[in-house]
Amino acid sequence: MTLLDIETERDELARELVRAAGALAAAGVTADTVLARPDTGLAAGTRARLAELTRPPAPGVGYRVVKGLFAAFGEQGPTATHWKDVDRARTARFDLGLTLVAALHGEVFGWENQQDGHIVHNILPAPGYETVQVGGSSIAPLTWHTEDAFHPDRADFLLLACVRNPDGVGSRIATTGAIGLSPEQVAALSEPKLVIFPDASYEDDVAGGRASQGMATLWRRDGELCLRYDPTYTRLLGPDDDFEQAYADLGRRLDETSVMVPLSDGDLLIIDNDVAVHGRGSFQARYDGTDRWLKRVLVRAPRTRPAAEQHEHGFNQLQVRAV
Ligand SMILES: [Fe+2]
Repeated sequence: MTLLDIETERDELARELVRAAGALAAAGVTADTVLARPDTGLAAGTRARLAELTRPPAPGVGYRVVKGLFAAFGEQGPTATHWKDVDRARTARFDLGLTLVAALHGEVFGWENQQDGHIVHNILPAPGYETVQVGGSSIAPLTWHTEDAFHPDRADFLLLACVRNPDGVGSRIATTGAIGLSPEQVAALSEPKLVIFPDASYEDDVAGGRASQGMATLWRRDGELCLRYDPTYTRLLGPDDDFEQAYADLGRRLDETSVMVPLSDGDLLIIDNDVAVHGRGSFQARYDGTDRWLKRVLVRAPRTRPAAEQHEHGFNQLQVRAV
């Protein structure tokens, strides 16, 4: 396929997605209810082509970008100053389109305690959160993290669709493929020596006082090195010099090998949450309706994770799934 062919294919599929989402929205269907329906209005052939266009990153790659797929949804209104204030009726078609694409790659879910349990999360800067390590931050860079690293059923893939990013604030990505740790360091980091707690975007205070079991930072699936990492919300279970040294080296290597992924309006960023960690540079929010705005959907794919994770309590955070 030439670049022109790819763009033609993308534009055709984008039109189909807008059409299907428009029909669903007109019928009162939302991103929270669409996956419970037997028919989403996308033909099987269109679904297959969309699945190929938005396919997850190849093993070891960690992320990929589909340029401009959501541009066809047009203007979404001003950026709100809190996720609660997003006009969900106005963005219903965009949200439906993103959810339909996400559902091609696994089971789409949200969290009861995050953004009122909605399937589509709005990531935008919010007054008062400028320096907090959550998606509503701005002045403080968002540090490396695996999305929802605290939970054994965290997403396999994140889909981030860019509504607007007028200042070109980059999303940072680092993957395990390039970290180059020694076998001894990988072995040390594969031991369950720490606990990762839920971040501050979860409404309940679930972090305090619960008995916790250890979590491993690295493991392998089919030979591929996988990562579970969120140092901001991590507590070591005990002093361990070798582990702490390896953990510090891992952080340094992620910094050194990271890439800045530019996102423009309508771009779709797909992140493999087991292979890549992500973050964001700092920026100055204006709160005038023009700030950076991403929409996020979480997907669980039928892949295996270490057996030890199956016994974790996940801090009692419950997922919302379409049934
Ligand atoms: Fe994140």
